[in-house]
Amino acid sequence: MEKGPGISNIVSRNILSRMKPYSPGKPIWEVQQELGIERVTKLASNENPIGPSPMALEAIQAYLTEINRYPDADTVHLRKAIAGHYALDPEQVLVTNGGDELITLLSETFLDADDEVIVPSPTFSEYEFGGNLLGAKVVPVPLREGFAYDADELLAAVTERTKLLYLCSPNNPTGTYMKKEELHRLVASLPSHVLVVYDGAYSHFVTADDYSDGIELVRSGFPIVVLQTFSKLYGLAGIRVGYGIADPGIIARIRQVKEPFNVNMLAQVAAAAAIRDEAHVEATRALNEQGRDTLYAQLDALNLGYTPSMSNFVLVELGPDAKTIYDRLMQRGIIVRYAGSWHLPNHIRVSIGTPEEQALFIQELTAILASLAQPSTPI
Ligand SMILES: Cc1ncc(COP(=O)(O)O)c(C=O)c1O
Repeated sequence: MEKGPGISNIVSRNILSRMKPYSPGKPIWEVQQELGIERVTKLASNENPIGPSPMALEAIQAYLTEINRYPDADTVHLRKAIAGHYALDPEQVLVTNGGDELITLLSETFLDADDEVIVPSPTFSEYEFGGNLLGAKVVPVPLREGFAYDADELLAAVTERTKLLYLCSPNNPTGTYMKKEELHRLVASLPSHVLVVYDGAYSHFVTADDYSDGIELVRSGFPIVVLQTFSKLYGLAGIRVGYGIADPGIIARIRQVKEPFNVNMLAQVAAAAAIRDEAHVEATRALNEQGRDTLYAQLDALNLGYTPSMSNFVLVELGPDAKTIYDRLMQRGIIVRYAGSWHLPNHIRVSIGTPEEQALFIQELTAILASLAQPSTPI
């Protein structure tokens, strides 16, 4: 056959050349393969260290023989389970292929080119990605000292063109949160053309009394979408289920752009079981709280700075050697997240793990810090 012309004249959308791809934490198998080592500890993606909900696993097993059928496009049973959990109406719930898909759907539903999207900085990168993808203008609002939110700064960034305002609380990667009172003031002060996207992916790990998961704002009729996920607390990151909670009118508009079969059936049955698995939820929360306290003590002992976190990860300050330390941790089979992509070159983000995983992390970190402290031998 004659040789084809190649693909050099096939042109993607202009915007794609200016977009940064998402950089996920490396999978365990890749690090094992690269380093030729068996023992790899992943504390990079804020996953559940005790594993998936056992009730979810049972539900998946029981459903396996039916996967010749298409999934329920309306996710009826799962929406009912979620609505029951929060005492809401199922019409206020939209289930998605992970929280990530909800961010894409929100962008596709609400953003025209040149609309404005407010994102705190630093925060979860998918908000910016969704805005850029649609050609919207992303307006970053820096967090204050100690990575604290400032409602007034966010309000000051609003213009007539603002369509979406993202608020991640607790925030990824800082673990800081906006207090309930400040959140209520912010939402009540916004002009009514701004839709707030309140990302509560880590809400279940909060132990502060003055936190809100945002649901009461949906109930009170504010234009807000609460984003949630089964990837963290429920241990289902690999099967991809998230959801949004909002006014049925907002949900109906997002449904206009959703693929019919966006959530596979194993994910639907797993999530419906996991949300009822109180033993797994309690065990996960308890482990996280203990793990956080232990990690603080371990970091204090090493004289390292960190941002107190309401989440299942901690942002640790390592100074100018942070990237070297991150690379060396990786060489020793410990995967954490280097924070350079958030413009925090002196930091890493470490997920809370099992006591054994954390002990390994601290053991290797201590050894690396000691080797860096050695004066280098003169040539
Ligand atoms: C703040 C935040 N929101 C949303 C997500 C998306 O979660 P998923 O797509 O796994 O449901 C993540 C995942 O890391 C996250 O950190």
